[in-house]
Amino acid sequence: MRVETLVLHNFRNYQYIELALDAYLNIFVGANAQGKTNLLEAINYAALGRSFRTRNEEELVRWGSEACTVQVGIQLQQQRQKLRLSYDLQTKKKKYFCNGVELSRTEYVGRIIPVLFTPEDLAVVKGSPQLRRKFFDELIGKISPLYEQDLSRYQQILRQRNQLLKTQGAKILHSAELASWNEQLVKQGSKVMAKRKFAIHRLGLLARLAHRSLTGRKETLTVHYLSSLGEEVTAPNTNLEALFAQALEKQAAAECRLGQTLLGPHRDDILFAINEKNARLYASQGQQRTLMLALKLAEIEFIKSESGEFPILLLDDVFSELDQQRRQLLVAAIEEKVQTIITGTAAEKLGLMQNRGKLFTVERGRVRLNDTHSANS
Ligand SMILES: Nc1ncnc2c1ncn2[C@@H]1O[C@H](COP(=O)(O)OP(=O)(O)OP(=O)(O)O)[C@@H](O)[C@H]1O
Ligand SMILES: [Mg+2]
Repeated sequence: MRVETLVLHNFRNYQYIELALDAYLNIFVGANAQGKTNLLEAINYAALGRSFRTRNEEELVRWGSEACTVQVGIQLQQQRQKLRLSYDLQTKKKKYFCNGVELSRTEYVGRIIPVLFTPEDLAVVKGSPQLRRKFFDELIGKISPLYEQDLSRYQQILRQRNQLLKTQGAKILHSAELASWNEQLVKQGSKVMAKRKFAIHRLGLLARLAHRSLTGRKETLTVHYLSSLGEEVTAPNTNLEALFAQALEKQAAAECRLGQTLLGPHRDDILFAINEKNARLYASQGQQRTLMLALKLAEIEFIKSESGEFPILLLDDVFSELDQQRRQLLVAAIEEKVQTIITGTAAEKLGLMQNRGKLFTVERGRVRLNDTHSANS
């Protein structure tokens, strides 16, 4: 998949721009606060119908304007499509179009799959379990359109069940009402767990390979699904529904006493271990960076294997953070395969990428192509 053209209208600090992107490499440089991240946000928004920076879409509309529009011309399996997404301040509604035909969100998303890598991703290793769940949930959502729905349905059931436990306590311990909530929780929760189990396993294997080459075979990465239901979840033929139902049964009294659901995917975590040591506790800055890079490279391969196409890679401010060796390994892994869009404050810092693809300068919501750079485009 490729994004060939990008048109923004009243999106963030862009009044109107039209860009033709290189099929492989695009570099956007500029001082701080000029609009580099806004561009990546726009591409990601056009792809997923959601911003990676805010849940409040009003922020996307240029100050003083009524609506914002992002339009991308894409190439997908040798076919060209025009995707357009607009958000209207007054109606607070989004509209999705493909080739001029209005679509629902589900019909629209999934054509382009972005892999985003920003400095904030580094927090995934050391941060809260919630961040690690979010990392995997976003990944699964990109390749499995129904996952998002399954997850939000689970969360809805969880909220209602918690409410019941909190207000009714021990009174409902053996009630038919609790049994019926359990049934729903188990059904929805098992769907979520099954997808997480698959994704963590597959991504883990791919990340281990990438990590091995990034560390010159000195370090071994393992990625492990830590479920509140215990180790058994990760065994090959586990019946997740039965396991979940039994575990709930055992915990019922405690849940009624404490007024909350103690087991299920909302309590999941993912363990990253480097040479068998928990990376959350022991990884150095450099090791966290390498681990994240390995996960991103694995994500690219995972998406390719699941969707048949390479995703597009959006690197916000991270490329210059990598050392020469890691940069080289990254470039070797994606070169001529993955369309990449990189931002940074200075072209020199991006070394290595000189004289390839397109170099753009971003200044106060305007984008200029530097002709001298584009040697082979
Ligand atoms: N809705 C909006 N309307 C107008 N301007 C906006 C809007 N939202 C954000 N901006 C402005 O866009 C500017 C550029 O933001 P962006 O995050 O893209 O900068 P950047 O080039 O990535 O900078 P840095 O190098 O610091 O990351 C910000 O200064 C911000 O004030
Ligand atoms: Mg930025």
